[in-house]
Amino acid sequence: MSDRKILVTSALPYANGPIHLGHLVEYIQTDIWVRFQKQRGNHCYFVCADDTHGTPIMLKADREGITPEQLIAQVGIEHLADFTEFGVVFDNYHSTHSEENRLFSSLIYERLRDAGHISSRTITQAFDPIKNMFLSDRFIKGECPKCGAHDQYGDSCEACGATYAPTELKNAVSTISGAKPVDKDSVHYFFNLADFNEMLSDWTSAGHLQPEVRNKLAEWLESGLQQWDISRDAPYFGFEIPDAPGKYFYVWLDAPIGYMASFKNLCTKKELDFDEYWALDSTAELYHFIGKDIIYFHALFWPAMLSGAQFRTPTAIFAHGFLTVNGEKMSKSRGTFITARTYLDHLNPEYLRYYFAAKLSAGVDDIDLNFDDFSQRVNSDLVGKVVNIASRCSGFISKRFANTLSATCSEPLLFQDFINANKQIAEFYETREFGKAMREIMALADKANQYIDEKKPWLIAKQEGNDTELHAVCSMGINLFRLLTVFLKPVIPELVKEAEHFLNIDSQAWPVAAQPLLNHIINDFKPLMTRVEADKIAAIVEASKENLEKTAAQHTQIAPEKKFEPIADTIEFEDFAKLDLRIAKIIKAESIEGSDKLLQLTVDIGDEIRTILAGIKSAYAPEDLEGKLTLVIANLAPRKMRFGNSEGMVLAAGSGGKDIWILSPDEGATAGMRVK
Ligand code: 2FM
Ligand code: ZN
Repeated sequence: MSDRKILVTSALPYANGPIHLGHLVEYIQTDIWVRFQKQRGNHCYFVCADDTHGTPIMLKADREGITPEQLIAQVGIEHLADFTEFGVVFDNYHSTHSEENRLFSSLIYERLRDAGHISSRTITQAFDPIKNMFLSDRFIKGECPKCGAHDQYGDSCEACGATYAPTELKNAVSTISGAKPVDKDSVHYFFNLADFNEMLSDWTSAGHLQPEVRNKLAEWLESGLQQWDISRDAPYFGFEIPDAPGKYFYVWLDAPIGYMASFKNLCTKKELDFDEYWALDSTAELYHFIGKDIIYFHALFWPAMLSGAQFRTPTAIFAHGFLTVNGEKMSKSRGTFITARTYLDHLNPEYLRYYFAAKLSAGVDDIDLNFDDFSQRVNSDLVGKVVNIASRCSGFISKRFANTLSATCSEPLLFQDFINANKQIAEFYETREFGKAMREIMALADKANQYIDEKKPWLIAKQEGNDTELHAVCSMGINLFRLLTVFLKPVIPELVKEAEHFLNIDSQAWPVAAQPLLNHIINDFKPLMTRVEADKIAAIVEASKENLEKTAAQHTQIAPEKKFEPIADTIEFEDFAKLDLRIAKIIKAESIEGSDKLLQLTVDIGDEIRTILAGIKSAYAPEDLEGKLTLVIANLAPRKMRFGNSEGMVLAAGSGGKDIWILSPDEGATAGMRVK
């Protein structure tokens, strides 16, 4: 073991939606890096947790008729199952709704408060008078004050890009209840970020950030740091602020503290020293892998909070770009919003791990999952180049040499070339240049295949008395294959585990000075990976389109604090007002030939005679209806049905069959009367 002590985190996924391929870029990137560190013999811990607090989670639980605790327990299990099946192995997976997190959140808040970094003042905010809760900008919709576009959020307009205060929206409504928001005062608590201006200027330019991130930060610092509102009023699912009953920590305050909490939980289980990693004088390394959308929280708020509360700051923040699919933003309707589970239902997770590795760099550029490129790369690199070496050589070793490798290495220089490459490959892994590492490894795979092509063991095998050469060539091939697998181990651990079984060796450390396997018995070869099949990809896309219907029905969101788009459980009063509800007199009712459900009604709606097709035949005989009054929607656009046009709709109640009751008005009503 080396002396490096490393603590690594990935961003904590929100506990109200499924893991999707966009998330997986980060978890796979982090997992590869962590596996590499462990393979190098470093003390490395990878912790994560579900991000469980906030309004969207509270509302979702409410809609599902369960408690937030039940919701987060259920989602936590699903998230961990998805990660595990993708080979993402955490040393600890915890929850921000934990005692450890409550303690650290309170501690950090109290230390900041005692050092004078917290202030409070009354602010006025939009309030939903039906739900009795304050509304953040994302829960208010209305017409853009600049361009008039409908259905715009309270902070910005997607049509013209204008930004504004929610109070400026025209005809604003709460997206939760449909009520018109009212203004209401409340005391809020703020973290005085500006107190850390100097600290952050130093920290952000001291090598903890990628160059492009540092530049962005310099812009933000230049434009001045605002106070950060860290409190939310009840009802809120989170931790109550210790000295402020009815006030809760904003989810983004306790979320990064969840990194500490998860590690603390691990320390308890494994008897590790928490302070060794988090105390001010810690010499351990601390890295946060995140998406570029949450840099502000991790590179400004978080180091300032840690520093103000006397904890160490991160060694580095590693931000990555977003995932696009086939060159476009992931889209539910195109079937490219793919959940981890849907992918797992059809394809080998290691295909994706390899593909992401091949595309990843140390920068923040977006990466594209192009399905043709994906199949081609996996098939050509992993199946066609790497696995192929073993399958080309193993047959002869098994049939002709009782599965035993030769006693000497026939090409020590070639073997040494492969070993020497370990330095450059390690450098690429260490600096998160995984794409470069994969290219280096594939260049070695090409070399190994060239060697076999030149030696042509299949021809040697036909020559009599050339067994020694055949043995030497195939054993060399197997030894080179082994080195390729050790280099690929952080990326495709399952395949490599099976390869290690085939090679009959223990789990391999990083091969700084590996020796060839000589006079060594291996196991029978079994195909280690099959080609990506195009129909499986098509099935994923199809299933993702189906998911769309399911997830829409379940109101599933992605990143609620930023992308929350609730599906209305209510219609607006304006929508209701559009209905022209009228008393109609049924002049004639007739059966329709060929239809066992419909009756054709001729109705008088006062100023017009209409034909309406109604599915009420199971409950009414036509003659019972003639002369009766009923209620219809008169302004429903005419609909072409199989048995003719229907020019309105009769309102009815009941469960179907005989139990259908067309709504008949009180006596005294007359045809054409408007109802409302
Ligand atoms: O953006 C998100 O998905 C957040 N749940 C990430 C939180 S990371 C950390 F701060 F907890
Ligand atoms: Zn606009």
